[in-house]
Formats: sequence, structure tokens, C-alpha cells
Amino acid sequence: MTEGRKRIVSGMRSTGKLHLGHYFGVLANWKKLQNEYDSFFFIADWHALTTKFDSTETLADNVYNVALDWLSCGIDPNKSTIYVQSYVPQIAQLHIYLSMITPQNWVERDPTLKDMARALREGGHNDSQISYGLLGYPVLMTADIMMFNANYVPVGIDQVPHVELSRDIVRRFNNIYKTDFFVEPEPLLTQIPLMKGVDGNKMGKSFNNDIKISDDEKTTEKKIMSAITDRSRLRRDDPGHPEDCEVVYDYWKIFDSEEKVKEIDSLCRKGEIGCAQCKRELAQKVNEMLAPIRAKRKELENNPKLVKEILLEGSNKAQKEAQIILDKVKEVVRMY
Ligand code: TRP
Repeated sequence: MTEGRKRIVSGMRSTGKLHLGHYFGVLANWKKLQNEYDSFFFIADWHALTTKFDSTETLADNVYNVALDWLSCGIDPNKSTIYVQSYVPQIAQLHIYLSMITPQNWVERDPTLKDMARALREGGHNDSQISYGLLGYPVLMTADIMMFNANYVPVGIDQVPHVELSRDIVRRFNNIYKTDFFVEPEPLLTQIPLMKGVDGNKMGKSFNNDIKISDDEKTTEKKIMSAITDRSRLRRDDPGHPEDCEVVYDYWKIFDSEEKVKEIDSLCRKGEIGCAQCKRELAQKVNEMLAPIRAKRKELENNPKLVKEILLEGSNKAQKEAQIILDKVKEVVRMY
């Protein structure tokens, strides 16, 4: 940790094994950012509870799997503070203080939260499953960020309304308790390629269209071979239309060089490469890129003690930092 660097905090809900959407959308970015910022990355198991409070049997396992994926993708405990949200109880205390000063209608109008509630209702959940804790989602997120007085919050565009609300809550806290100690955090948006699932929709675990970081090579190939290509092409030597082949062509652009994409483009248009061969080659490329990550994951899987130690050590480090901020919070609120 170098003094003087700006601080970032970001988290990911513990939903289980991660997929390529997480890799390209989040982890590749964090891996870069950890060299430039004083970085705090955490596994948001309390946030997972806001919707999964009634199915906790996989919760601890999910935390562990997320940690395995992060570490094998190069999130480095020597560069970043890596921790589990629930191992840092100071965050829950700060959440209490913030929940007192946050006007009810601020949380009620948070558009991302409205979307979450709508998705739950559409998924067959009734109103009793939309809890007080879920309504507090952005307030808890504010506690996550303010707990380390972060300057920036690297997130995807869907999370920006939450961070805007965090800014408002921090500003209000500073106003009410007449301090300028707490930083109004800013979202750190990055251009990220949207990773489609093999069926052309957004990649997601619940859509069953994802390629997991931890999938084996055979599974990866099978998933890629199932992708729908240019529907107008019936025979192998029919001229193809890469622009109508959204999944496979898009993946080529993510996984290989511009020259290779041009080569595939031209072979396809001339009918000189069939879709099956094209997908087989792509699968090979994807497997090649993931090989070192998967090897590292296997190594860590064989050493669960080490993974747990890393999480405990990171969480201890986070707790020390958090306690300093919590003391400051209690002092300005005049709890003592
Ligand atoms: N809400 C984020 C998501 O679903 C995860 C998250 C929780 C988070 N707390 C955070 C992200 C604090 C950034 C900062 O992806």
C-alpha cells in the first residue's frame, strides 16, 4: 500500500462460481486498478442475503468459490485488501448510523433497487420476500464505501444510481454532523465489452448460458459449439455474414487479435470456413486463454487452508482500517 494513492472500494455479491462476464466486466479491470489505487475488494455476502435469505445452504461455499476465482484471475492479496463483508462487523455498525439519516423516499426512488424488486416479483416472489434489508441495499453499499473513505468506486453502469445515492448520503452525513471528513465517492466507470452468453442474451448464471472460469475444456467447447451462428447459412460453403453471427463473431473480437478477426471474417464471407470449424477453433482459443487461470484455480482448490487464510488476513487488515473510521463516526455523531 503506497501512501498518497487514491482509494477504491468495490464488491461483488457472492453468487457462486464466476463466469466470463465477470472476468471481462469486472476482474480484468480490478487487476489493472490494483496497481494504480489503494484497493479494497470484498465479497458482499450480506448483500447476497438481501435476496437469498431463505436459501443460505450454499452461502459459505459461494464466498469460497468467488475467492478462488478472484485469486486465480490475478486479484493479488499483496496489492489489494481482499476481504469478506461479514467478517468486518464495523460495516454493520456504520450501516445503522447511515440508516438513521437516510430519508425513506431516497431509497424508495433508487431505480436499480426498483428493478431488483420488479425482477423478484416477476420471478414469482411475493411482497413479503422483498424485505426491509433489501430496501436498505444502497445504504449498506454506502457503508461499504464510506467505511474506507473511498474516493472512487469501480462499478458497471447499472450500479451508478446506488453510488449517486451514496454520494447524497455521505453529503448529508457531513452536513448533519458538521464535518468534512467523509469523502463523497465517485463512480469509476470503465469501458467494458458486454459479454453475451452462448445464446446471445446477456451472460448470466440464471440464464444457463454462461461459460464459467472454472469449467473444464470439454464443457467450454460443448457450450461454444452450441452457439447459434448465421442462420442463413445452410451448407458449409455458403457465403457467411459475420455481422449476423453475434455470439461467435463477438467472441473472436474479445479473444483474438484484429488480424485474426479479419481473417475469420474473410474466410466466413467466402464460405471457406464452416461454422463448426470456426467454433472449434474459437473454443481452443478460449481454452488457451483460460488455461493458466484454471491451473492456478486447481492449485488453490488443493489448498483451501491458504485461501481461508488470505480471506482472514485481508479481513483483519480491513477491520483495523474500518475501526479507525467507525471511531470517527461515533465521535462526530457524539456517541461519546
Ligand atoms: N451492489 C454491487 C453489485 O451487485 C455489489 C456491491 C456491494 C458493491 N457493495 C458495494 C459494489 C460497494 C461497489 C461498492 O454488483
